[in-house]
Amino acid sequence: MHKRTLFRSALAAAALAACGLSFADDNVFKIGLILPMTGQQATTGRQIEAAAKLWMAQNGDTVAGKKVQLIVKDDTSLPDVTRRLAQELVVNEKVNVLAGMGITPSALAVAPIATQSKTPLVVMAAATSSITEASPFVVRSSFTLPQVSVALADWAPKNGIKTVVTLVSDYGPGIDAEKYFSERFLFNGGKVADKLRVPLRNPDFAPFLQKVRDLKPDAMFVFVPSGAGAAVMKQFAERGMDKAGIRLIGTGDVTDDDQLGDMGDVALGVVTSHHYSAAHPSPVNKKFVADFEKANKGLRPNFMAVGGYDGMRIIYDALKKTGGKGGGEALLGAMKGQIFESPRGPVFIDAQTRDIVQNVYLRKVEKKDGQLYNVEFDVIKDVKDPGKSRK
Ligand code: DHB
Repeated sequence: MHKRTLFRSALAAAALAACGLSFADDNVFKIGLILPMTGQQATTGRQIEAAAKLWMAQNGDTVAGKKVQLIVKDDTSLPDVTRRLAQELVVNEKVNVLAGMGITPSALAVAPIATQSKTPLVVMAAATSSITEASPFVVRSSFTLPQVSVALADWAPKNGIKTVVTLVSDYGPGIDAEKYFSERFLFNGGKVADKLRVPLRNPDFAPFLQKVRDLKPDAMFVFVPSGAGAAVMKQFAERGMDKAGIRLIGTGDVTDDDQLGDMGDVALGVVTSHHYSAAHPSPVNKKFVADFEKANKGLRPNFMAVGGYDGMRIIYDALKKTGGKGGGEALLGAMKGQIFESPRGPVFIDAQTRDIVQNVYLRKVEKKDGQLYNVEFDVIKDVKDPGKSRK
């Protein structure tokens, strides 16, 4: 009798423990945020992590009765590491969402894991057009290079730029930028004197800039990933290219708000096209910038931060809508079609493509209160990724 009672209570305890465990698990919602926190792309990781934490500080960590847990992993921007971390997060941590993806090769490495495990993958940084087509579980909160490149190719010929040399990082987003800028520029009657591609890893811009100098185009169109702009700008000035009458234009990655404050006067007057400027004059952005700077010792948020902040919002709203029921597929469904006002302006997650539709701004670097900013002077509204309609 005694034995039986003991056995029974042991069983009950085990059941309770199991119950408690599943109770705890059901009430936690895990976001696996994989970012480059060290290495060449570390500023991207720092910006996105800070923005994700700001979102949570402003909106709480309980959504639809669940405790949101952010698990940040450093992939050092090596895609093999990103893949391994994503696998561990899905299998061991059983994350509900994968997010982050500092560079295109990382996003492409994780896409098959998202598909197989039916886990939504919120791409907050990487910006090659084709990423959303690598998995039906990808949703993008950043931008695409085709989306932001075309506007500049319309602006340039109307502003005295007839010949251009393109200089891009030699991988997905650079090749997208080169293609979409050049095609549109040619269509508008411009001439592309040469197309130069610089390695992504440890780039030495000097020989490429020398080549541009020798070709003497009206302008050099640049795409380099976030974090590399200051080096381009410095070497451009050192070679006296601005004094030789060559203008620097590019996508806003080159006048990245993370670095712009320290670029010096060589950046003054540089015209770029992009989806976000810390100087965007909306009340939503002013509050975002002030709160971000306050929480991060004066660090200015850049376009990566906005991708992270909006990505968190997309996840939170999808969790609110589904109450966490229905797993990854329901969550994905609730991410599609979201419309909201971002610090960058109005945005929309196209339900068909799962890519972001947003305004693209033309901006010029100017001094505001003694600091350099990308000041917006024109806008093209609700721009879809032009990369999608081609395929
Ligand atoms: C990518 C990375 C960047 O830092 C950037 O500014 C744009 C694109 C990318 O790898 O997709």
